[in-house]
Amino acid sequence: METFDSTRTERVVTVNQSPDMPRHPHRFLRILGAVLMLLIFGACSSPLGSGSSLTTLDPVSTQGRSIYHQFVAVMVISALVLFLVLGLVAWVMLHFRGQPGDPEPDQVSNSRTLEIIWISIPIMILVGMFVYMIQTMRTVDARQTNPIVISVIGHQWWWEYKYPGQGFDTASELHIPVNTPVTLKITGADVIHSFWVPQLGWKQDAIPGKTNTMNLTVTKAGTFDGTCAEFCGTEHAWMRIRVIAEPLDQFNAWVQQQQQPAAPPATALARQGQQIFQSNSCVNCHGNAAVAPNLTHFGSREWIGSGVLDNTPENLARWINGVKQVKPGALMPAFNFSQSELNALVAYLEGQK
Ligand code: CUA
Repeated sequence: METFDSTRTERVVTVNQSPDMPRHPHRFLRILGAVLMLLIFGACSSPLGSGSSLTTLDPVSTQGRSIYHQFVAVMVISALVLFLVLGLVAWVMLHFRGQPGDPEPDQVSNSRTLEIIWISIPIMILVGMFVYMIQTMRTVDARQTNPIVISVIGHQWWWEYKYPGQGFDTASELHIPVNTPVTLKITGADVIHSFWVPQLGWKQDAIPGKTNTMNLTVTKAGTFDGTCAEFCGTEHAWMRIRVIAEPLDQFNAWVQQQQQPAAPPATALARQGQQIFQSNSCVNCHGNAAVAPNLTHFGSREWIGSGVLDNTPENLARWINGVKQVKPGALMPAFNFSQSELNALVAYLEGQK
């Protein structure tokens, strides 16, 4: 009993000894504000550092904008309801505050009119939002006339982009034209992935054996980054997406370049690299787009390993011999080329434009 009592006394003393808390509420608010600001603005920068932001609040496609408008409408209506209810509660609490000894206040009961009114308001709001949502879904799923069809295939852990109408297959960056209808046919090669570029508007699952459609008309040129949004194994976090939306003439020029076979190696070193590429197991996988990225125009790409490295000769050398350090789960085997072999391979691959 004695111990218990002394503890209690100590506790009371401790509370009394910290008069700082109530005297400086502003300091606490300032710290809270600073932490909130840090959290809010910390979310503004892109983790990829490319200047493109992973935000759903700045949609660049017609379809994405209709989803965004719906989001804003729902937020505004919810905020209005929240403030209306909180305001009424506060007003009632202050206005009808009772004093000790007051008689029981008047109650609202058995008022059919009042009950019908306050039941029908939420019903009308919900029905209105439901109709608006159906309208948004119709806009997002609306068939487009003469779209450019691109197959998007999720692999562990990279994205393959097939342009069947144009007759080529690529990886790493998805090029699309602006102000032109594009239809993405999205599927998975091994496990379930999810294609998510926030500024395009929404996610679409990439499921093996099933093809999901994403209709897009992107109205702004630029580079828009995204990421796989469904946990798909060890390197899920390094399954980045980069969409390059460009004016139609630039897109057509890119398509023409992709349709050409890669130029033959220009230097003796690059020719040696080609020999090494073809006599080792590289060609077994990279010669078959269903297994590994097609490297035909590798030199013109921005990324290595789905965004894990920028495409530079030094990074490519690092990737070839040290893939298990750079992207440990990658399915590419570890190679151990000599420095001169590595130089030749890098010269060959970077020359593939
Ligand atoms: Cu693919 Cu996560």
